[in-house]
Amino acid sequence: MTDGRMNRVIVALDVETGGRAMEIVRACNGVISFFKVGKQLFTAEGPDVVRRIKKTGSRVFLDLKYHDIPNTVAQATVEAVKLGADIIDIHTSGGYEMMKKTMEAVRGYCAAHSVSEPEIFGITILTSLDDTELKRIGYTGGTADMVARLAVLGREAGINGVVCSPLEISMVKKTCGSDFKTITPGIRPLFAQSPDDQKRVMTPKNAFDAGTDYIVMGRPITKALNIGEALRKLGDEIG
Ligand code: C5P
Repeated sequence: MTDGRMNRVIVALDVETGGRAMEIVRACNGVISFFKVGKQLFTAEGPDVVRRIKKTGSRVFLDLKYHDIPNTVAQATVEAVKLGADIIDIHTSGGYEMMKKTMEAVRGYCAAHSVSEPEIFGITILTSLDDTELKRIGYTGGTADMVARLAVLGREAGINGVVCSPLEISMVKKTCGSDFKTITPGIRPLFAQSPDDQKRVMTPKNAFDAGTDYIVMGRPITKALNIGEALRKLGDEIG
């Protein structure tokens, strides 16, 4: 197990097969113990991949971004809790009732079965949407306004935090309070030359210095020729 900041680095397992995912998990052994399973891997491999990762003693962020009517999201989230997911995300734009009902269902299940509660995070505005695209889907506020509004709504509904761009960390903390958590993708360490398709990136050190609770990083680790070496460099950078 690791301490401090390295303990709050989540490696995104955006790969095609469970076999490759487990290779990465093993290569991270002893340094990183938090992994994100998203739509690609989950659709390819099903829930069993989550069980396999959990068996290694690691934690899992199940990133399926649920968005549906309140009952459906609440029940799907409870199934994710049964799988052992430690962090689960839902869309804040699904509305207050959807988030509130989900929190009630999760708390009810965890209390009844004496299991520890996962953290539920909200998606506000996807970082792939700019102001022009937001107008086209009928959102009249700009990105910053909408992120703040949806984060506040999430806080009122009782979720634990939001997934946001590293550039939004301080705004979210200021609007919702420092105990309202943030998970930030869009992270590129100094040793990784390419931003890939990420547009507004920040280094892991700067994101933690800005107050984020977790960072999510995929390709700089998963595509590294030597994952152990990449993790050593990451540790040096984060300090
Ligand atoms: O490889 P990379 O570090 O860019 O991976 C980032 C991960 O975070 C991917 O799984 C991506 O889908 C996810 N993500 C993101 N931006 C968001 C929300 C999620 O990059 N706004």
